[in-house]
Amino acid sequence: MAVPFVQDWDLVQTLGEGAYGEVRLLVNRQTEEAVAVKVIDTSQAKECAENVKKEVCIHKMLNHSNIVRFFGHRKEGPTVYLFLEYCSGGELFDRIEPDVGMAEKDAHKFFQQLMAAVEYLHSVGITHRDIKPENILLDDKDNLKLTDFGLATMFRFKGRERLLGRLCGTLPYVAPELLSHTEFKAQPADIWACGIVLTAMLAGELPWDQPTESCQEYSDWLQKKTYLPPWKKIQPMPLRLLSKLLLARPDARVTIADIQKDHWFTHGVKPPPGSLASERNKLLRSDGGITSWAQSDDRMQFSSSQPDLAAGGLEAMLNGQIECQVSFSQPTKPEHMLLGSQFLGTPGASQSPWQRLVRRMTRFFTTVDADASLSSLKDTCDGLALGFKLTCSKQVTVSTLDKRNNKLIFKVHLLDLNQRVLLDFRLSKGDGLEFKRLFVKIKQKLGDIVSTQKILLPIT
Ligand code: ADE
Repeated sequence: MAVPFVQDWDLVQTLGEGAYGEVRLLVNRQTEEAVAVKVIDTSQAKECAENVKKEVCIHKMLNHSNIVRFFGHRKEGPTVYLFLEYCSGGELFDRIEPDVGMAEKDAHKFFQQLMAAVEYLHSVGITHRDIKPENILLDDKDNLKLTDFGLATMFRFKGRERLLGRLCGTLPYVAPELLSHTEFKAQPADIWACGIVLTAMLAGELPWDQPTESCQEYSDWLQKKTYLPPWKKIQPMPLRLLSKLLLARPDARVTIADIQKDHWFTHGVKPPPGSLASERNKLLRSDGGITSWAQSDDRMQFSSSQPDLAAGGLEAMLNGQIECQVSFSQPTKPEHMLLGSQFLGTPGASQSPWQRLVRRMTRFFTTVDADASLSSLKDTCDGLALGFKLTCSKQVTVSTLDKRNNKLIFKVHLLDLNQRVLLDFRLSKGDGLEFKRLFVKIKQKLGDIVSTQKILLPIT
């Protein structure tokens, strides 16, 4: 992807992909400033250009420490570039261990910050409408940042509130009234989604496919069967809060003001020493380090000296040919990169040169060559009855249905690095937690060829 107007900004890595296009990391050669650029191809659907206009219009007016900063945008033909604060901690999603969750202390902090973001949004009359862990990022200090305002809309203007009618969002996160009523209030629906996010953080699974009584798990919840998973994995105090967040009737559901009075929300919990929860919390690292769910070789090495970006060149880096030692800061002068575009002023001054790179844990090195890696991967996929298709010489598309019969598609890229092969798994479609579960299964089955040696990784 060429971004001709970006001078001295290297396109370093793809941070994420979605239906809209992709988000890439830009790093300034001279200043080492880092920004994320969301690249949207509006030629795909005729309503897309309008949607992007709305996203820009909403995102640019937001100013809160728990919301990804919007630096500006630029349009080049059908392509729109949104310049955003770079969140080097990656997605909240990557801190959730499938079927386990994360340390309750971390979930508590993230939930408080999520509430701060949503309280602010609602105070300015905006509803996000697609709150989920994939749209929640973390900065270098593990501060939560809500992002992706592609579905956001105004529900209050000049003090007058309007009801919503459009069914949008992501089914496991949508509130029941969206599926049962033609009109519903905006705020309780966002709060419901926050309840699902909290469940995912505390139990590592989504409670149901969709909140309809035809869905067994949802009907079990309505019948208060909290002895079943995911509820049985959750401590009584957060579970009490969840039962207020996930109340079927939107008018009975807690408001943010109520949440702020909840005991767990305000105090958190300290499990008694030696208790199961305390042991579990000890196992799950809570220091912002690499989470335990798929201990991978994925380690980055950082350097306090000048980064290698200029010396190594972007091409080599994008081709995965060099190992990089990089350090980033947030931009002090994003106008360098936004010349000719609508710019919104200087972003927040997080200037640390020691910010972390996005950590991705769905990859590992093998101990064999590319052909042997590919053939082992094929055997494993065949054994698990997964669809396996060689889409390029170095890329495989794996497809299956998850336990809820939803499509799950991911790509495995094979990268040759210093005579070693890296298998890099990326989700293309489906539930991210299911993707991770399957990744762990495949990695286990490939145990014989998975390298345990720690090694520097390139940014890909
Ligand atoms: N993925 C999507 N948006 C991102 C951002 N702003 N920073 C880091 N990763 C991202």
